[in-house]
Amino acid sequence: MPSLKWRSLAVVCAVASAAASVLVATPAQADGPLRTHAAERGKFIGAALATGPLANETTYRNIAATEFNQVTAENAMKWDATEPNDNQYSFSGADQIVNFATQNNQQVHGHTLVWHSQTPGWVQGLNATNMRAAMNEHIATVVGRYANNATVVSWDVVNEVFNEDGTFRQSFWFNTLGQSFIADAFRAARAADPNARLCINDYNVEGINAKSTAMFNLVQSLRSQNVPVDCVGFQSHLAIQFGFPNDIQQNLQRFANLGVQVRITELDIRMQNPRNAQKDTTQAQYYTNVINACNAVTACAGVTIWGFTDRYSWIPDTFPSECCGLIYDNNYAQKPAYTAVHNALDGGTPSDTTPPTTPGTPTASNVT
Ligand code: G3I
Repeated sequence: MPSLKWRSLAVVCAVASAAASVLVATPAQADGPLRTHAAERGKFIGAALATGPLANETTYRNIAATEFNQVTAENAMKWDATEPNDNQYSFSGADQIVNFATQNNQQVHGHTLVWHSQTPGWVQGLNATNMRAAMNEHIATVVGRYANNATVVSWDVVNEVFNEDGTFRQSFWFNTLGQSFIADAFRAARAADPNARLCINDYNVEGINAKSTAMFNLVQSLRSQNVPVDCVGFQSHLAIQFGFPNDIQQNLQRFANLGVQVRITELDIRMQNPRNAQKDTTQAQYYTNVINACNAVTACAGVTIWGFTDRYSWIPDTFPSECCGLIYDNNYAQKPAYTAVHNALDGGTPSDTTPPTTPGTPTASNVT
């Protein structure tokens, strides 16, 4: 039986799809914003938002409101922002994002409750009893704050628990509490909000590999123990120099077959400096491929882009020789990647998921 939040969303979707069916009776607005075309498919198109430019830049606010029907707080809902000191909470940034989304008829995906990064030092040094208590209290307080707010519909409960080889990351969470912190976090989040969709989230799990298979096995095991994991987030921090995960659709589908919702949570597609037209073309193709994969998997709820303008991307800070992973440039001009996302959402022509190859060396696509 769908929960209250989901029922209300179901009503919204039914109305939207009814409206969309009416809209589709006449050709959908080809030049409509991304959110219009995503909603016509019953999907979201989202963006991670930063509180600074959201408060201070009109262009940023206008694009964020116009193009997206889902938003994620890039940093404002993380532990270091919401509980910088033990039992001292600060929700100014989180509330700013939630209020903006409410005003613009957008959903909020909460990010993130339990992560090895951006967790204050006072947590990291606790013993097992106190660390588990602090985690449960943090989740109850943060999730509970928005549990009766229809705008906040889902959470990244646990983030990035695996190493690349599929073993568990030796974080302070794992080293102090063992693997049980994962199930405990999900149970605490469900207790705080009976209606929210609860996700486990990671990067480099987009294709079928040791890490994504470890995630698959964990989700299958947790659900067999009735741990409320009902969503898996595939961050999708891609780079054109590393190629495209051509089996992404099959991978999403195998998780969907477990009975969970899947979502692309942090999409950006970086490139090595300098940006040029050829790299833009490859990037646009990769964006098309990701949207097409989500469109093809019914249980894929949508795609969140990790920001939307290169002006405020995390990428240069982390990869100094790389840039330009998003769909608007530093001056808020739409890039070929924007057009690619628009056309893929707007029922655009299905495209081969094989990345462009040099002429004369066609490769068979492994995605039907
Ligand atoms: O808030 C402080 C500010 O007070 C201080 O003056 C400034 C000095 O550098 O730092 C500010 O904190 C920064 C924070 O973003 C907020 O802007 C941190 O230094 C900076 O490291 C942090 O980076 C974020 C990063 O997560 C941290 O790991 C990025 O913006 C954010 O895009 C990135 O997002 C993560 C996802 O949450 C999880 N998946 C991977 C993704 C990319 O790393």
